[in-house]
Amino acid sequence: MATVSINGVNVKVKNGTNILKAAESIGLKIPTLCFLEEVNEIGFCRLCVVEVEGVQDLVSACNTPVKNKMKIFTDSKKVIDSRISTLQLLASRHRFDCWVCPKEGACEFYDMLKTYHVEFEEFGPSKGRNSAKIKGLGVNQDQSKCILCKRCVSVCAEHTSTRVLKFRDEDGLNPVVSPTIGLSFDESGCIACGQCISVCPTGTLFEADHLAQVEELLYERENFNVAQVTDEVKTALIEEFDLDKNLNLEKLEEMLNEALTMSGFDMVTNVNFANDLTVLELASELHTRFNTGAPLPLISSVCPGAVNYVEMYQKNYVDYLSKVKGPHTLLGTLTKEFLSEKLEQEKANVKITSIVSCPARKTEISREDINDVDAVLTIRELVRLFRKKEINFKELSGVKQDSLFSKASGAGSLFAVSGGLTTALIRTLYNVIEKKELDELEFDKLVFTEHNHAGNFKELKMKIGGTDFRFAVVDGGANMKEFFKLMDKKKKKYNFIELNACSSGCINGGLMPYNFEETVQENMMLRANLIYNDDRETKEVRKAHLNLSLESLYEELLVEPNSAKAHELLYRNFSQKDIDNN
Ligand code: SF4
Ligand code: SF4
Ligand code: FES
Repeated sequence: MATVSINGVNVKVKNGTNILKAAESIGLKIPTLCFLEEVNEIGFCRLCVVEVEGVQDLVSACNTPVKNKMKIFTDSKKVIDSRISTLQLLASRHRFDCWVCPKEGACEFYDMLKTYHVEFEEFGPSKGRNSAKIKGLGVNQDQSKCILCKRCVSVCAEHTSTRVLKFRDEDGLNPVVSPTIGLSFDESGCIACGQCISVCPTGTLFEADHLAQVEELLYERENFNVAQVTDEVKTALIEEFDLDKNLNLEKLEEMLNEALTMSGFDMVTNVNFANDLTVLELASELHTRFNTGAPLPLISSVCPGAVNYVEMYQKNYVDYLSKVKGPHTLLGTLTKEFLSEKLEQEKANVKITSIVSCPARKTEISREDINDVDAVLTIRELVRLFRKKEINFKELSGVKQDSLFSKASGAGSLFAVSGGLTTALIRTLYNVIEKKELDELEFDKLVFTEHNHAGNFKELKMKIGGTDFRFAVVDGGANMKEFFKLMDKKKKKYNFIELNACSSGCINGGLMPYNFEETVQENMMLRANLIYNDDRETKEVRKAHLNLSLESLYEELLVEPNSAKAHELLYRNFSQKDIDNN
């Protein structure tokens, strides 16, 4: 243990603890910008500097370990002056348009400038400020706002393993963080997980805008606008609108339904219904592949970020991806092909908007064989829409969804949490193979808990129909990279692999709300528990194949899982994608 004095207060901490953590232990929050625990601890921005007695230069608190008897000052004049100079320099390169900034008032940089009351002289483009705007189907970048903190560079390298965003400074005069020079994010190998957006302390990185398009769709009187909502978005509402933490998912869904109707949508459907359908098709696809000796493992294609990852970085596994469309695109197809007729709407007038937590779903709807979803809004864009419509979300009492595509089982709810898709699949696969119901509905190894989310991957072996079925769940690009390497090296055999581009699954999508008050871990548990409680306590049926609305859909349209009609409407193809990731 080391004993140090911080602003005159003695504190005992473990050897090796950095000054930032030592200060935190006595309730002192030293400001940081580039620091991101366990991801970006490079001491680059120098905002966290403190004075150490006997040391001439200020030291960065985020990556300097304490030493026994160290005397530290976090608020001396020298420290505050240095922080202000650092902020002045950063601000002079930054373009301010806070009122339209995608950061939506949750800007760490702005808060810092306000805290220190920073005045500065704007350098403007003429004095070397970067001004490039880089496009992508999912992720966009406005370099005029970048403060070069490198958080995104570290996340893209460490979490996602794709190394799309890089710090470049060839002549030592024009530093920039960007994807491959001259190329879009997609061409540079971006899988659109959005994790870089979630860590950027400014509005430099943001999702491709679909809100303007949705507003146009809503203005057009002939249109019949349908909003498709996902569970991860419902779990975000408590944080986004500062709602009572005891509200359950059903209530949140009703409030969201009301707000969407007030915004001009004619109908709201539930992506969980399509999740149930996906489970039935997946179970049949896996069973058929198993019976016919077709190549296994079957790799889930529910997460579009993971699909992008496989197509770009694990090309040998492209043929192993499940051909079933992603749930929200599948629901779009069914709404246009089936529901429109029932509602006596012209198919061409039915316009579909999905509401999700990540930019990868924006890339998904621009695939060649995906034509039925017109736009994808993230929760941030949705909040912007509600604000423009002057909806006071907190005051809504909620209205139940009432469409043919609103009823779902507990299994359908689970898709938002890592391991949930596999759990849902096992519940139905067992029925498909054993022709009887499975009693056990949860599997400890797959349940998301505080201690069961951060490992490299989760595995489960289960005897079904006399055969050992092996399942794996892998979250995050870096873990996927390691997993595929290990599987190839050790020739490990799996029947089914669930891939999620984001750790913890969609509840940690790159565009979930920013929340600095709670730790990330607490947020994830709050969101995951909403989902689990919905499955365990609210839903009457917890298995996808027991969803009665699906029965009528198969009777009237699809015949049976894996049928020719199902293939015509619900299946798609994949291809290897070349990228230039330099
Ligand atoms: S979206 Fe993901 S893959 Fe793309 S640049 Fe950001 S972190 Fe990297
Ligand atoms: S894009 Fe954002 S996270 Fe990346 S270096 Fe710039 S300010 Fe930092
Ligand atoms: S936060 Fe410590 S150097 Fe940037």
